[in-house]
Amino acid sequence: MEERLNKTEKEAIREIDAAQARDELERVRIKYLGRKGILARLFKELVTVSEEKRPVIGQSINRLKTVLAQDITQREDELLPGIDIPGGLDVDITMPGVAPGIGRLHPVAKTLNDICALFSHMGFAVVEGPEIETEFNNFEALNIPLEHPSRDTFDTFYIDTKNFDTETEKRRLLRSHTSPVQIRYMQETAPPFSIVVPGKVFRPDATDASHSFMFHQVEGLVVGKDINFAHLKWTLLEFIQEYFGPSFKVRIRPHFFPFTEPSAELDISCMLCNGAGCRVCSQSGWLEILGAGMVDPNVFQAVKIDPDEYSGFAFGMGVERIAMLKHGIDDIRLLYENDIRFLRQF
Ligand code: PHE
Repeated sequence: MEERLNKTEKEAIREIDAAQARDELERVRIKYLGRKGILARLFKELVTVSEEKRPVIGQSINRLKTVLAQDITQREDELLPGIDIPGGLDVDITMPGVAPGIGRLHPVAKTLNDICALFSHMGFAVVEGPEIETEFNNFEALNIPLEHPSRDTFDTFYIDTKNFDTETEKRRLLRSHTSPVQIRYMQETAPPFSIVVPGKVFRPDATDASHSFMFHQVEGLVVGKDINFAHLKWTLLEFIQEYFGPSFKVRIRPHFFPFTEPSAELDISCMLCNGAGCRVCSQSGWLEILGAGMVDPNVFQAVKIDPDEYSGFAFGMGVERIAMLKHGIDDIRLLYENDIRFLRQF
């Protein structure tokens, strides 16, 4: 009997190891451990064993049963194709899984999309332009001639700085605002139209909590007959209300831009101190969020639109600034570091 047990153990282990698929293994299991299997038969034969040997042999068969069951489970794990289940198959497959992290839009992209969507609902077309521009589009056509002092305030990244002759050639540059797309669009399209232009702009500013050498703007341009300042005011107030909510106060202040006349800047009441005055709003209670104005007749002339027949308004806003105000972000650099712990919050 002992000899048969040893032989059975050896054969069974060989067959378990040789099994190449789970159904093959299952056949081996039934052959040895099944209700009518070899071990069951051995148990039945115990009655033929002498009474004093019976307990020992009984224990041996039981041990063999445990050993084979373990070996089969182990082999089963090995045969599971590419799935590493900790603790073998002893898992609750009905347990809810861990959802894979899905991506989301970067806060700047989201803000850009939201702003464009709001204007789109008001009937504006969304238009884009190149990031590399000519001096003509970025400056001259916008009523900023070479010697114009305001050209310095748009401190600019020039490309082609080496082989260029000031007399004959214009330099190319990285656009310092989205306004050159106004020029491109007006050269190609007869009024009336209303567009918004999202995009990147570049200025050689030293990076700090509120400055970056690259940031985003959304430009707006509406041209038609009898467009006046009231249209500009209504459009921008509608946008602010929709985007920031109805609880913000808005004020429009006179300002200067070479390409608009009259020009204005628009402030909203500081959301951090509710207009009382704090560090963020420099104690004024107001935060500037965009520049705007009526298109200067000189700009219309540069693109051959008759300023006596048409009028229009334009505006430009900084997207990072708006995202920061909306979400209470106090450092623009957070928007470019792409730290996942920061981005996850949006
Ligand atoms: N281009 C201006 C800037 O970058 C913003 C602006 C656009 C102002 C359109 C008036 C009209 O600061």
